[in-house]
Amino acid sequence: MNRRTFINGFFGGSLLATLASFLYPVIRYILPPKQAEAVQKKVAAAKVGDLAPNSAKIFKFGSSPAILINTQDGKLLAFSAVCTHLTCTVTYQGDTETMFCPCHNGRFDLAGNVISGPPPASLESYKVDVAGEDIFVSKKA
Ligand code: FES
Repeated sequence: MNRRTFINGFFGGSLLATLASFLYPVIRYILPPKQAEAVQKKVAAAKVGDLAPNSAKIFKFGSSPAILINTQDGKLLAFSAVCTHLTCTVTYQGDTETMFCPCHNGRFDLAGNVISGPPPASLESYKVDVAGEDIFVSKKA
């Protein structure tokens, strides 16, 4: 190996290492690693008696918020609280007995269907089971 070949190789390698050190973080930022979302199929959302009639509670279902509603006539309903428009968290409004998304005034009925606003799809509904003192919410099969 002569001196010129060595210097060309050395500077070429240095240039590649420098480019890689700049590009690697940019590529990692643009393409985040695929994270296996923790699959949670059933969660204890509340205790019996926690929710007064015509009220609701937001709870974590896996990594996403969900909403448990105790209707005026005592029926327990659960939905994903992630708005299908731009993923804001919906809340329950007892006066209208609807779920409301404050981001763009999206509104859903107690079946999860869109009543008004820009959401393109219904909220995912979950199954509710009462076992002893606990209210369990699970994904529908
Ligand atoms: S994010 Fe819910 S209406 Fe836009």
